[in-house]
Amino acid sequence: MFLTSSGQARSGLLWALRHVRRASGAPARDPRFAALEDSDLQFFDSVLGAGGVVTDPHSLQPFNEDWLGKYKGSTRVALKPKTTEQAAAILRHCNSRRLAVVPQGGNTGLVGGSVPVYDEVVVSTVCMNKVLSFDTVSGTLTAQAGCILEALDSHVAGHGYCMPLDLGAKGSCQIGGNVSTNAGGLRLLRYGSLHGSVLGLEAVLPGGEVLDLLTTLRKDNTGYDLKQLFIGAEGTLGLVTAVAIQCPPRPLAVNVAYLAVPTFAVAQQVLVAAKRQLGEVLSAFEFLDRESLAITLRHLPGTKDPLPGCQAPIFLVVETSGSSAAHDSDKLERFLEGVMEEGLVLDGVLAQDSAQVQQVWQLREGITTALRHRGAVYKYDVSLPISQMYALVEEMRTRLTTALPHLAGSSGGAGSGGGGGGDGSDDDGPPIRVAGYGHLGDGNLHLNISVPGYSKEICEQIEPYVYEWTAQHRGSVSAEHGLGLMKAGCIGYSKPPAAVAVMRQIKAALDPHGIMNPYKVLPPEL
Ligand code: FAD
Ligand code: MLT
Ligand code: ZN
Repeated sequence: MFLTSSGQARSGLLWALRHVRRASGAPARDPRFAALEDSDLQFFDSVLGAGGVVTDPHSLQPFNEDWLGKYKGSTRVALKPKTTEQAAAILRHCNSRRLAVVPQGGNTGLVGGSVPVYDEVVVSTVCMNKVLSFDTVSGTLTAQAGCILEALDSHVAGHGYCMPLDLGAKGSCQIGGNVSTNAGGLRLLRYGSLHGSVLGLEAVLPGGEVLDLLTTLRKDNTGYDLKQLFIGAEGTLGLVTAVAIQCPPRPLAVNVAYLAVPTFAVAQQVLVAAKRQLGEVLSAFEFLDRESLAITLRHLPGTKDPLPGCQAPIFLVVETSGSSAAHDSDKLERFLEGVMEEGLVLDGVLAQDSAQVQQVWQLREGITTALRHRGAVYKYDVSLPISQMYALVEEMRTRLTTALPHLAGSSGGAGSGGGGGGDGSDDDGPPIRVAGYGHLGDGNLHLNISVPGYSKEICEQIEPYVYEWTAQHRGSVSAEHGLGLMKAGCIGYSKPPAAVAVMRQIKAALDPHGIMNPYKVLPPEL
């Protein structure tokens, strides 16, 4: 039962309900697509050479399965072009033969977008891993799409710069995948979205045309900004082959505080104080709840509780990055004194050296992997008004405890004071645990439901409830992970029909045969 607070919210929910088609399992294989033939493999060999064409079933396994182990395809071939010309020749062939294609980067996506649904041809950018140029004056980096994010960060670090995005998957995700998902990450609060920092890109369209938009200009008002279409397109419009990106100066001083607060409402007060008092040096404001902490301490080896024994329900990671260690420390200490004196913060620690900074970040960044270690996980990545963010976690906990008491009962979540506390004890809580964490400063909640295995019984309690709740609160059902296969039927919860219709027109204009990443992002036409 939903309460509508305004007419606007009510009409939003109505169009959402009317135009949503839930992704209940995968759609049927589209009969327009051809099946792979030996002559196709011969053509791919002629373009890429034998090393660039993977057909052995064992070697294909990682290309067919996503990071979560939730989505599995059955491709018979993965192609590894090294150059834009090779990529163009492959796509031109696939288009003429009506072979469906899935672009794949580091395969760290969390919505099933990077793996085939059926037998689509995987085009992997793993061998497109060259830095093309770096301008040390402007800080603009131009790199092939398959460069690993962390490797690029190390590259620009040598010149005193850093990448404008950072995320837990940095060791394996690729810049082309980051751009194609419009990844947000841990420092969007400071450096903004890729829609701002990507200056140019090169993409191969399905017909094989190369769209060279690889400029490094800060300002360029000549016609429609076509590169924006590919940022967040999730491989449905073309293959991104190179990216030009603006890198900010690498901060000389980084400080991290880890704080315990009594409620999510108080966490918001601390955010307001941080924005006012830390101003330009504030670079991250993240939160994790006690369930997230407990699961991570238990399931991710090497993690340590920065506040052992503290039973607070919500923890914050507050980071400053600047050019003067003394200036930043002074600001951060004053801020911490202020929030402590006001009684907003129950307990806290300030990392004393880079090892402690890493330790705190490992805890926050490691939640995703810890949840994966625990078992299966239903992941939701929603944007909401900050004031509403945590209510969804609490309501989900209550809902699951009521509906499935044998699986979710006595969950030790934030505010419940129950077991599974954040002390790294052996208690792994009930089979179903609801964890909330995310980018508080950006209004981005990661609601995660850790379960023993994926099941219809559990899923029906979560979906479409979580999407309806989000639409009801004028949120977005995908803040940063994209729609992929998981939410291809859910765009209507966050976009009106007119917007979806324009998206379909763009898709038809760029990919008239629909070969690029079918079944993903847009719902099938009724
Ligand atoms: P893939 O997973 O390979 O692909 C993702 C999508 O982009 C697919 O639809 C694919 O078809 C398409 N694609 C990939 N490369 C290209 C290309 N060259 N051209 C066209 N389409 C392409 N996301 C966030 O936003 N913020 C986070 O903080 C964050 N943290 C994460 C932490 C972990 C531990 C993990 C596993 C994932 C995390 N993610 C996060 C999700 C994920 O979106 C990002 O890791 C990343 O942006 C995906 O990059 P990738 O190279 O792995 O892309
Ligand atoms: C994060 O912020 O940790 C990532 O988006 C991954 C996740 O949601 O688990
Ligand atoms: Zn995130």
